Amino acid sequence: MRGKSVLLIIGGGIAAYKSLELIRRLKERGATVRAILTAAAAEFVTPLSVASLSGEKVYSDLFSLTDEAEMGHIQLSRSADLVVVAPATADLMAKLANGLANDLASTALLATDKAVLMAPAMNVRMWNHAATQRNFATLKRDGVLFVGPNDGEMACGEFGPGRMAEPNEIADAVERALSHAPGALSGFRALVTAGPTQEPLDPVRFIANRSSGKQGYAIADALARAGAETTLVSGPVEIAPPSGVKLLKVTTAREMLAACESALPADIAVMTAAVADWRPEISANNKIKKEPGAAAPAIRMVENPDILATLARHAQRPGLLVGFAAETDNVVAYAQAKLKKKGCDWIVANDVSPATGIMGGDRNTVHIVTAGGVEDWPDLDKREVGTRLAAKIAGALKGTAA
Ligand SMILES: Cc1cc2nc3c(=O)[nH]c(=O)nc-3n(C[C@H](O)[C@H](O)[C@H](O)COP(=O)(O)O)c2cc1C
Repeated sequence: MRGKSVLLIIGGGIAAYKSLELIRRLKERGATVRAILTAAAAEFVTPLSVASLSGEKVYSDLFSLTDEAEMGHIQLSRSADLVVVAPATADLMAKLANGLANDLASTALLATDKAVLMAPAMNVRMWNHAATQRNFATLKRDGVLFVGPNDGEMACGEFGPGRMAEPNEIADAVERALSHAPGALSGFRALVTAGPTQEPLDPVRFIANRSSGKQGYAIADALARAGAETTLVSGPVEIAPPSGVKLLKVTTAREMLAACESALPADIAVMTAAVADWRPEISANNKIKKEPGAAAPAIRMVENPDILATLARHAQRPGLLVGFAAETDNVVAYAQAKLKKKGCDWIVANDVSPATGIMGGDRNTVHIVTAGGVEDWPDLDKREVGTRLAAKIAGALKGTAA
């Protein structure tokens, strides 16, 4: 996050003391931090501590003539790359969810044109209250990002959800939000494949697999939202295409390869599709009939083209080539072998054993295998896997000319 600037709004909760450490963590990672303190927050931490740690003037008064002359409240809300609210009190969440703006913090939140990341912190009953949960849902719908709250023991002695995420966790979320900020991948071209392929036996029968396409569509969506000019090559699935993505619909593996090659050159390629390894050698022109007394037809299979390996050897090889490995056993070991064999840069490995519910489901647990090692990601919504992968890609391409 070097060169990025964060506007940190500190709300009036016990966890405000952790925001002092958050300032240090953000500065260590290269960000500049400007802070707004609510009147309640100033009861918990002093403006002097915040100013000393941030090395910047601290703002708290909406009607300060001096501040308005130096940096008006609108400019303050827009000069940062990201607005972070930590701790986000029940009160600040309620205000933003309902469009209230009666102090500097809430006015800045309403006036900003930047992404907002909230780290809620409050008593477990306050967090579980129907009003807070309603506001939380509204804010998420409005596009506000969240980190935490975590489960655990609270300063008030109660136990449950409501503890503010730890400073390093918030700093990680800031990093992701900044990498994912609109424009993080603008100027880059991305190619994504998704879904199964169908390999015909005759005009009405085919061999396919259970891939739903949800993961690939989520990745294409995330790359497009990050600004990449994205082409999605999709096998037959029943999902609406993400907005802003160029969709090429195909049926067979051979069609998928041709569509991928037509989308080159690309800076990024994420091969999520579950491509059939084999196809029936012969696809009958007419429906194969069941003749009385005749033996069941034998299906001879032949190998399909290997799309990932073909792109890896291609004269227009994508700059960052990411493959997927869907396995039912030895997931990481097979993925490590696949990385070497196919000549791609990363493999995203997942366990598609029926018990995991991953194939066709909404959630995924992935391992990112690179030459440098293995990252194990927690169980996440497939959209969040897409968002994190786009952020990781943006991080990897940073410094590459767009
Ligand atoms: C000791 C103490 C601790 C508090 N801790 C929290 C808290 O963790 N979360 C919260 O939402 N409110 C907390 N409150 C209530 C807020 O301070 C209060 O709602 C205040 O109006 C919030 O103002 P702000 O949102 O402008 O910062 C606490 C109040 C006191 C007196």
